[in-house]
Amino acid sequence: MADQAEGAPVPFHLPVLLTEVLGQLGVRPDGVFVDATVGDGGHALSLLRESSPRGSVCGIDLDPRSLVRAEQRLADFGARFTPVPGSYAEMVSLVHGIWGAEARADGVLLDLGISSRQVDATGFGFSFQRDEPLDMRFNPEADIPTAADIVNTWSETQLAAVIRENGEEPRARTIAAAIVRGRPVHTTAQLARVVTEVTGRRTGRNQRGGGRRPNRTHPATRTFQALRITVNDELNTLSAGLEGAVELLAPGGRVAVISYHSLEDRLVKNFMAREAAQCICPPGLPVCVCGHRPRLSLVNRRIIRPGAEEVAANPRSRSARLRVAQRLAE
Ligand SMILES: C[S@@+](CC[C@H](N)C(=O)[O-])C[C@H]1O[C@@H](n2cnc3c(N)ncnc32)[C@H](O)[C@@H]1O
Repeated sequence: MADQAEGAPVPFHLPVLLTEVLGQLGVRPDGVFVDATVGDGGHALSLLRESSPRGSVCGIDLDPRSLVRAEQRLADFGARFTPVPGSYAEMVSLVHGIWGAEARADGVLLDLGISSRQVDATGFGFSFQRDEPLDMRFNPEADIPTAADIVNTWSETQLAAVIRENGEEPRARTIAAAIVRGRPVHTTAQLARVVTEVTGRRTGRNQRGGGRRPNRTHPATRTFQALRITVNDELNTLSAGLEGAVELLAPGGRVAVISYHSLEDRLVKNFMAREAAQCICPPGLPVCVCGHRPRLSLVNRRIIRPGAEEVAANPRSRSARLRVAQRLAE
């Protein structure tokens, strides 16, 4: 049912916008799906059920610990589920390696960000709610700098730039200076303390009374987000993943993307809008010279968000935004 972290069982991540994803992907019996961020396998489980009796799901994840859980959880589906270690940036070659070079998918799902297990279990260093090494790599074997490497070796200017750009943090320069002063910073608690010392506890407007009350967002949230995005090069990876999804989809197939912050959502929105546009010439040209051919049509022009009931049952779903597009015929 769940694995053990420090002796306590870690429950499965609750799949976000599940009904909406299944409906929007148009899951049908015997369909072929790529769950490019399989995590604990919550969405994949429903994709397999809804595509019975012969539908198949390829489940990709960068985190080998997630794949073990998904594989165990979905074992009853036998060969209908294939767990694949790797990055969704390489989904075309990963999927072709399993299903053959001609393989196309009826649906691709990208559920971005981190699973609740990756927040709750030890070993990732994503969360300031527990003191542990400042790692933040999805794959502990990956030969890439950890968050600790970044905070302890990058210049103050470089740190300020990533905290501002990847965290959308207005106080990036102050925080970067504090990190450099506080070096060495090796743990999540140390980093959270360094950030809180210079930003203090933020206050937000009380929505009902208009008064001030402590904001529920921890002051280090944006800095942690910035470092995670930087460590895993998440925005470039997402661009490559979206490109791969379009390449893999069969005509009429759909890509569904759930994002959890505005940087991701803006990237997805712009990618889909460009792929759906008839012309991408700069404005003002008298005739079209770009030769652009749309590859997608937008399925939902407005983002789909979780309803109040889902947010109440799973508060971590509150920032989720779903966008869906359909592959056009070539
Ligand atoms: C929000 S969780 C997915 C949860 C999943 N939908 C479920 O129902 O259990 C996001 C997952 O994406 C994985 N991930 C992050 N970056 C990735 C990448 N570049 N390639 C593949 N998986 C990635 C994370 O390890 C995590 O398991």
